[in-house]
Amino acid sequence: MENVQVYPDPQTVAQAAAERVVRAAEVALATGDRFTIALSGGSTPRALYALLAEEPFIRAIDWTKVIVFWGDERCVPPDHPDSNAHLARAALLDFVPIPMANIHRIHGEMEPEQAAAAYETRLREFFAARLHDDRLRARFDLVLLGMGDDGHTASLFPGTAALGETTRWVVASYVEKLGAWRITLTPAALNAAAEALFLVTGAGKAPALRAVLAGPRQPERYPAQLIAPEDGQMTWLVDAAAASLLPTL
Ligand code: 6PG
Repeated sequence: MENVQVYPDPQTVAQAAAERVVRAAEVALATGDRFTIALSGGSTPRALYALLAEEPFIRAIDWTKVIVFWGDERCVPPDHPDSNAHLARAALLDFVPIPMANIHRIHGEMEPEQAAAAYETRLREFFAARLHDDRLRARFDLVLLGMGDDGHTASLFPGTAALGETTRWVVASYVEKLGAWRITLTPAALNAAAEALFLVTGAGKAPALRAVLAGPRQPERYPAQLIAPEDGQMTWLVDAAAASLLPTL
C-alpha cells in the first residue's frame, strides 16, 4: 500500500502536515530561492493553515520565498465563502509575510474556460522561467490534496472529461453532481510535483479511502487513484476514522 500514515484525529493530522510543509520548504530552499506549493481547498486543510499561521510554524518558513498556487478552485469570486483562495487567505495568507506577488490564485470569477486558460498560461510562464531538467512541467515542490467521499481529488470528479486530459495542465470542469463549474489542475500537472501530500480525515471518507488505496484500480470511479508523482514522493496523512476500513498491514 502507498505511504499511509495514520494519526489519532484531525488535529494530529494537521500537526504532521505542518511539519511536512516546513520540511518540504527546507528541502526546496536548501538548493533554490523559492518554495512552490499548490494549496488544496475544502474544509480539511483549514486546521493545517491555522497551524502554519502561528508559532512555531510561522517562524519556521521564510514566507518571502514561498510561491503559492492552488490545485483547484470553485467558480466563484475570491471573497465568496466557497472560494479556496478565500479559505487560504482567511486561515493563513493574511497572517504571514508573503508578498502579494507570490500569490497566484485561480480567477474563479472569470468565465470557466478563460480562467483555466489564464491559469495554465501563468503556470507555464512560471515554470518555464525555472526549467528543471529542460523539461517544461508543473514541478511544484509540494502539492496539498484532499479527497472527497466519492474519491475525487482537487476538482477531478468521477466520470468527468478532466480525468482523461493528458496535455493541458488546467481545465474547466462542469461537475453534474454539484451543478457547478470547477477549475482544476489535471493529473499531468499534479503528477509533475516533487511531493504530493494527501490529508484525509473523518469516518465519511473511510469507504472511499479503502477503495482508493486497497481496492481495484478504477480511476474513472475513484480519481484520487490518478495521483502518482512521476518522479516524486506521495504520502497520505489520515486519521483513524478515515483509516478504519483499511486492511490491517
Ligand atoms: C475542493 C478541494 C477538494 C477537497 C475535497 C475534500 O475544492 O473542494 O480541493 O478536492 O479536497 O472535496 O473536501 P473536505 O476537506 O471539505 O472534506
